[in-house]
Amino acid sequence: MKVAILAATGSVGQRFVQLLEGHPWFEVSVLAASERSVGKKYSEACHWLLDTPMPDKVKDIVVVDCKPENMGGAGFVFSCLPGELAGPVEEEMAKAGYPVISKASGNRLKEDVPLIVSEVNSEHLGLIEVQRKKYGRKGFISTDPNCSTAPLVMCLKPLMKYGIKRVHVATMQALSGAGYLGVASMDAVGNVVPYIGGEEEKIETEALKMLGTLKGGKVENAPIVVSASCNRVPVIDGHTESVFVEFAQDVSVEQILKEWEAFEGEPQKLKLPSAHKAIVYRTEPNRPQPRLDVMEGKGMSTVVGRLRKDGPNRIKFTCLSHNTIRGAAGNGILHAELLKAKGVLG
Ligand SMILES: NC(=O)c1ccc[n+]([C@@H]2O[C@H](COP(=O)([O-])OP(=O)(O)OC[C@H]3O[C@@H](n4cnc5c(N)ncnc54)[C@H](OP(=O)(O)O)[C@@H]3O)[C@@H](O)[C@H]2O)c1
Repeated sequence: MKVAILAATGSVGQRFVQLLEGHPWFEVSVLAASERSVGKKYSEACHWLLDTPMPDKVKDIVVVDCKPENMGGAGFVFSCLPGELAGPVEEEMAKAGYPVISKASGNRLKEDVPLIVSEVNSEHLGLIEVQRKKYGRKGFISTDPNCSTAPLVMCLKPLMKYGIKRVHVATMQALSGAGYLGVASMDAVGNVVPYIGGEEEKIETEALKMLGTLKGGKVENAPIVVSASCNRVPVIDGHTESVFVEFAQDVSVEQILKEWEAFEGEPQKLKLPSAHKAIVYRTEPNRPQPRLDVMEGKGMSTVVGRLRKDGPNRIKFTCLSHNTIRGAAGNGILHAELLKAKGVLG
């Protein structure tokens, strides 16, 4: 299938281009971005930041405006537009009949829009049928979560059966999570910034939707409390999180390790091209670390360590995930593979 990427020149857009090189099912055919880039060849418009060369196939593609009439023969659209812009542009694409898989925040919490980590809540893709019926169109919007919510829900999902009551999370988030021009070097180097605008609210709301239950064409939020505190740290790629969980009952470390080890979702069962082991547990006392562990499972696995009891009914652990792969482009591609495998993309 031919694929279009909106905001293809940014940090996440580049990851899509990189990860789609040689993909067995999808081929990049349209690259769109802002006025700054429109009309230029991708190789001229894009300041390539990744550690593999820009794929030859995309170098000469001329960047277009993010309008439905420019999407050519694309079978669907990946969107990594800035949040505030994404809502209306993605809506226009869906109206024009395109399936949109979005990394942006603009549409994530809408009642009829799925918010997906494929291993965690693939059943929420049922909302696509709700959208199609409601608006009488083939096009739809399906979204991916914030990059720090993805590893959190991955770790929590297999533990939901023990009655999670409350989750506290402190994040240490990489610079690439803010985009290429996101954090000034004078703020970033040798420093920690204890504030990321809007991030805590995103984790606290998105996690409840993703861990919720699809009933009667709606998602009922999970009845848990999530409290987040977010920090920007001088790491290039990889969000690390210290997580504290309180359950309704006592749960042993051994039980939790067993749940994480066995955890898999539809992507693993269907052997989708981008599926890797969902959770990898490191037993060393000083892991996971972004520099050593961020590329586990080609950047698609959530790496967990330091699991320990924190008093009766409580545990704590550390998790790590690649923010532009599992937290962004990789998650989006896996999401698209699942939709394709289920016949939803046509
Ligand atoms: N970075 C991450 O780890 C991460 C993870 C999850 C989600 N996200 C989300 O993904 C989105 C993109 O983030 P990013 O990190 O890739 O940002 P970025 O590196 O700052 O890139 C911004 C992109 O948006 C494009 N753009 C800006 N204004 C536009 C306009 N008016 N019309 C069309 N395109 C426009 C830019 O195109 P030009 O180059 O032409 O200006 C560029 O491609 C955001 O919504 C972000 O919240 C990011």
